[in-house]
Amino acid sequence: MTEKLLLAGVIGDPIAHSRSPRLHGHWLWRYGIDGHYVPLHVTRERLHDTLRLLPDLGFKGVNVTIPHKETVLQIADSVTDRAALIGAANTLTYTANGKLQADNTDGVGFMENIRQYTPGWSASEGPALVLGAGGAARAVVSALLSDGCPHVFLVNRTRARAEALQDHFGAKVHVADWTRIPNVLDEVALLVNTTSLGMVGKQPLHIDLDRLNPATVVNDIVYTPLRTELLEEAAARGCHTVDGLGMLLHQAAPGFERWFGVKPEVDDDLRAVVLGE
Ligand code: ATR
Repeated sequence: MTEKLLLAGVIGDPIAHSRSPRLHGHWLWRYGIDGHYVPLHVTRERLHDTLRLLPDLGFKGVNVTIPHKETVLQIADSVTDRAALIGAANTLTYTANGKLQADNTDGVGFMENIRQYTPGWSASEGPALVLGAGGAARAVVSALLSDGCPHVFLVNRTRARAEALQDHFGAKVHVADWTRIPNVLDEVALLVNTTSLGMVGKQPLHIDLDRLNPATVVNDIVYTPLRTELLEEAAARGCHTVDGLGMLLHQAAPGFERWFGVKPEVDDDLRAVVLGE
């Protein structure tokens, strides 16, 4: 028998910016695991062959990032229900016989992040307002509805994309225009920004928060900067706010556990390592 190294990694194009190697590297060190987690720069053309080759090299699985999250669903041998529902995968695992299973842990990451900083919180507490209709919004909406959120107001620059999500998730999703945001702000239990607005180098997120209810929990999935303008303004209005870094950390945990056999802890040490502090 050939000895197999304990390997995992992240596949994307580009990949140099990924914080996942640092994140998993910290866990490997912390739990004393003799394994490696490596960034793999893989183009669209080489994605299929690479995924077929990796188990022979000893890879237990990989994370997948831009631009491969949707394509991998076609290559995988099996797709979990939640990945199928979201229409994308971020965590691939090789089974003992080398078959490829595609899963999506973004929704879990989103929920665990809010739960960690808002003890006792449940999506069933009230309606949510979600800004954006991209891949991240799909994961967020899916997770909220699975956790009993009564309905989700969805607002996106390109309305057709929000309507596509409504078609996908059904009548609990209500598409609204940006101009309608103030009208729903006072009735939502949760406000989430899933757009890239407010991120370093992107345009700011401008919404009128005058009617934001102080009881509303506000979450931004943007984590550069950690304290976005949205979070700062919401906090100034008395809202409980949760930054986006925890979603990145929590979405990584299920993959690490599957590949390396230890359920890892998401704590302040990990946050500091990923932030490069
Ligand atoms: P992700 O998979 O990370 O969600 P995405 O699919 O590119 O990334 O989605 C990005 C989201 O940010 C979309 O909702 C996008 O709106 P459009 O669907 O109209 O493109 C939103 N977004 C990005 N730049 C924006 C801008 N300048 N103004 C408003 N919304 C923006």
